[in-house]
Amino acid sequence: MYIESLNLKDYRNYQELFVEFENKVNVILGENAQGKTNVMEAIYVLAMAKSHRTSNDKDLIRWDQDYATIEGRVKKQHSSLPLQLVISKKGKKAKCNHIEQQKLSQYVGNMNVVMFAPEDLNLVKGSPQVRRRFIDMEIGQVSPVYLHDSGQYQKILQQRNHFLKMMQIKKQSDLTMLDILTEQFIGMAVKIVLRRFEFLRLLQNWAKPIHQGISRGLESLEIQYKPSVDVLDSLDLSKIVASFQEKFEKVKNREIERGTTLFGPHRDDILFFVNGRDVQTFGSQGQQRTTALSVKLAEIELIHAEIGEYPILLLDDVLSELDDYRQSHLLNTIQGKVQTFVTTTNVDGIDHQTLKEASTFEVVSGDVKKLN
Ligand SMILES: Nc1ncnc2c1ncn2[C@@H]1O[C@H](COP(=O)(O)OP(=O)(O)O)[C@@H](O)[C@H]1O
Ligand SMILES: [Mg+2]
Repeated sequence: MYIESLNLKDYRNYQELFVEFENKVNVILGENAQGKTNVMEAIYVLAMAKSHRTSNDKDLIRWDQDYATIEGRVKKQHSSLPLQLVISKKGKKAKCNHIEQQKLSQYVGNMNVVMFAPEDLNLVKGSPQVRRRFIDMEIGQVSPVYLHDSGQYQKILQQRNHFLKMMQIKKQSDLTMLDILTEQFIGMAVKIVLRRFEFLRLLQNWAKPIHQGISRGLESLEIQYKPSVDVLDSLDLSKIVASFQEKFEKVKNREIERGTTLFGPHRDDILFFVNGRDVQTFGSQGQQRTTALSVKLAEIELIHAEIGEYPILLLDDVLSELDDYRQSHLLNTIQGKVQTFVTTTNVDGIDHQTLKEASTFEVVSGDVKKLN
């Protein structure tokens, strides 16, 4: 799939923008603070209904304005789909094919994107929260059911935490009620765990050969799901439920003492191993970069396998960060099949045939002009 046109109104530093794109590599060129990332972010937000760099939607609205609009047309194999997202201080409204969507979880997934920005190097180095957010966003864009379930999970987690807090300060002592909340919690948790397990297994299948290629056959990558409740040896629903039940029975008193839920998908993590060693702890910066890059490239293939179309690739300020070999590997992989946006302050550092054939756009203080 590819995005044919993008129309912004009062989005970040864009008062009004209309720009058309082709299904190839599009280079967004400009000095710092001109609005390159803002364009990439707008495409991401149109797809995911969420920014990759802020959780505060108000940041997206141009200063002193009441709402921001992002519109785009996405071309797929058999359709051309108009999408619209209006962000106001009160919330977001999404339209697909001119029809207002009741739930954002149903809207997300109409357009698929993979973003690779410098922050993504944190996927390996950063906190578990970064990796959980990664899994949630990525499964979410191919599975509306997962998006819905993880919303429900957050709700029941909050309820359970609130109840435990009340028990901690002795405003509540109803153990039966706690058991009911625990059962509901486990019901949702198990769905999340199973889907994450399956996603990471698929991701690893794609990422392993890619990583091998980038490392010239020297490195073998393994991605391991590390759920906070040990379910690794069984993908059997009733067994997972049983291990959750056992765990929560054991930690009941400790949870009441602490006033919070101590286990569950909100505490999960992902581990990356290169040649059997944990990359987070033992990997060189180069290995951490290769791992992040392999995971992103794997995601492109995974989305293609799941939905039958390639996603749109957004490379914000990363191409010039990669050495020549990794750069060529990346560009060779996407060549001719993935619509790609690349931002850079300078085209000199990027030397590849793909870029010679690319369209170039120049960004100057919230305005985009096509150069070729
Ligand atoms: N909500 C907003 N309203 C108006 N301008 C904004 C808003 N958010 C960010 N900006 C401006 O956008 C510019 C940064 O754009 P960005 O896309 O990050 O630049 P770069 O080209 O370096 O990637 C800055 O000048 C910043 O002040
Ligand atoms: Mg930027």
